[in-house]
Amino acid sequence: MSVNVSLPDPRLEGRTLKRIVYDAPEIARRVRELGAEITAAYPDGDLLVLGLLKGSFIFLSDLVREINRPLHVDFLVASSYGEGTVSSGNVRLVYDPETKLEGKHILLVEDIVDTGRTLNRLMDLLSARNPRSLEICALLHKHIADELKHDTKFIGYDAPHEFLVGYGLDHAESFRHIPYIASLL
Ligand code: IMP
Ligand code: MG
Repeated sequence: MSVNVSLPDPRLEGRTLKRIVYDAPEIARRVRELGAEITAAYPDGDLLVLGLLKGSFIFLSDLVREINRPLHVDFLVASSYGEGTVSSGNVRLVYDPETKLEGKHILLVEDIVDTGRTLNRLMDLLSARNPRSLEICALLHKHIADELKHDTKFIGYDAPHEFLVGYGLDHAESFRHIPYIASLL
């Protein structure tokens, strides 16, 4: 365990841990496995790994170092129209990668899939650009509601139905830098 849970973790802003769901060594082990799966799945062609910001930034940086083949990295920043939450399903790209996607293998990397609405819209936008293939890699998948029209080909964990923070996941922008994934009381 990377943190002594009997001591207060100063990163938690005074909040109390309910439990650590995945500790840092466990995450590293699973990310290594995912990297090997992804390496095997793309024997040829150009691979562009697209991280959906902000939530994927830590996962993506660990994941690409476990993918043992050539690749390029870029990012997407999505924003919702009007309604205030990204889960409204009305998604617009605030930052759009410069690189052309046509003819490339695109791997969209997401921190967590909840309802899947964000990814539905993004996948529609990206597939219109004629990539050679388009797949999703999500560290966590809640399998809730499952409005996702597209399969998530690479999944780190089937996540418990709790609100999770750490390893890139936030609550009101806090706790992204916690090196483990936890639920708070
Ligand atoms: P969806 O469109 O409902 O699938 O929402 C996915 C987005 O909601 C993720 O990219 C996260 O930003 C956020 N989200 C969903 N569940 C959690 C959670 O348990 N912790 C932190 N963020 C979450
Ligand atoms: Mg978020």
